[in-house]
Amino acid sequence: MAKGFETRLIHGGEGGSQALTTPIYETTTFVFESAAAVERYNAGEGDQFLYTRYGNPTVVAAEAKVAEADAADGALLFGSGMAATSTLLLGLLRAGDEVVCGAAVYGGTFHLLEDFLPKFGITTRFVSLDDLREPERVIGERTRLFWFESPINPTLRCVDIRRIAAACRARGVVSVIDNTFASPVNQQPLQLGVDVSMQSASKYLNGHSDVTAGVVTAGRDLLAPIEAARRKLGGILDPQPAYALMRGLKTLPVRMARHNANAMAVAQALEGHPRVTRVYYPGLPSHPDHTLASQQMSGFGGMVCLDVAGGQAAAMRTFDNLKLVARAASLGGVESLCSLPVLTSQWGHTDEQLAAAGISRGMMRLSIGLENPEDIIADLVQALG
Ligand SMILES: Cc1ncc(COP(=O)(O)O)c(C=O)c1O
Repeated sequence: MAKGFETRLIHGGEGGSQALTTPIYETTTFVFESAAAVERYNAGEGDQFLYTRYGNPTVVAAEAKVAEADAADGALLFGSGMAATSTLLLGLLRAGDEVVCGAAVYGGTFHLLEDFLPKFGITTRFVSLDDLREPERVIGERTRLFWFESPINPTLRCVDIRRIAAACRARGVVSVIDNTFASPVNQQPLQLGVDVSMQSASKYLNGHSDVTAGVVTAGRDLLAPIEAARRKLGGILDPQPAYALMRGLKTLPVRMARHNANAMAVAQALEGHPRVTRVYYPGLPSHPDHTLASQQMSGFGGMVCLDVAGGQAAAMRTFDNLKLVARAASLGGVESLCSLPVLTSQWGHTDEQLAAAGISRGMMRLSIGLENPEDIIADLVQALG
């Protein structure tokens, strides 16, 4: 009988030696007993390693655990989420290819597609949320890859994952989701038909804000060219953070359950607060995508956004008043964090780009941690004044 999700996350990738936990193979290179053994390695036979940039036992074990989280054929680990994103794009695309991408994506992804990849002849057409609702219409002749997020950073709007995956499959386009905000506990994109799931493992997967890493999961056919690109570009994760990531993954289900509950408590407490004009949380019935989120997610995640009455100046004042919630970018760790999208993930975006992404200048983005929810709420209420 297939083991349950929690069991697979604890035991997946572990074992193979007398140690209960996976040892850290802190080595750059591996010793062969003979020339014939090197030949066997070159032929892809056996389970030997050559060089850590190509693969390392601790990293392979961590990849097996991540693959369990997404119920995927396999997983690849990288030194950051952006290393995962850039390697997968360069591994799957060539000059002349077009990417279709939701306009409201993580700023690093946006700038990679907008400013950097055109140098190599890979262009991107950014499409609106309305377009994402009718993906069949936006796939063009040259479209090779469709990149999207759901929930979207930072508005937490959701798009119909099954529909995008089906539209892409019908046209032979690779669908890729950035599943960082949801985590595999709340959303299983590969089971909804998406070809590739990418995540910044610096967030919920590791969960303690002390590892920078990225993950790609997919079927074997798509993983092969991405792995080949990783060997050339060199963005593989080091063994030590791979070990830390494995440890974090063992508690992912219990952490996410608490992130979900705490975020819901914060969202409910602040909805209707006189200094808050809007709360964005897909778990609230007032969220425009609540029904869709309920259909494709099993929990609503730990991210909550607010529009503070009075715009950017008021949001900056509230931010400065925080005492418990840390003024820090990033998300997905045990400590609650707050950032202002206009100063971080959407830094440098024009008013037009902000409007296209549905982001207001007075928006505060909260990554709700695992503290007592009453303490988090009390801090936010005092900061709002
Ligand atoms: C949604 C999302 N995707 C990707 C990334 C990039 O990940 P990393 O910072 O690990 O490179 C981030 C980082 O904040 C993110 O929030």
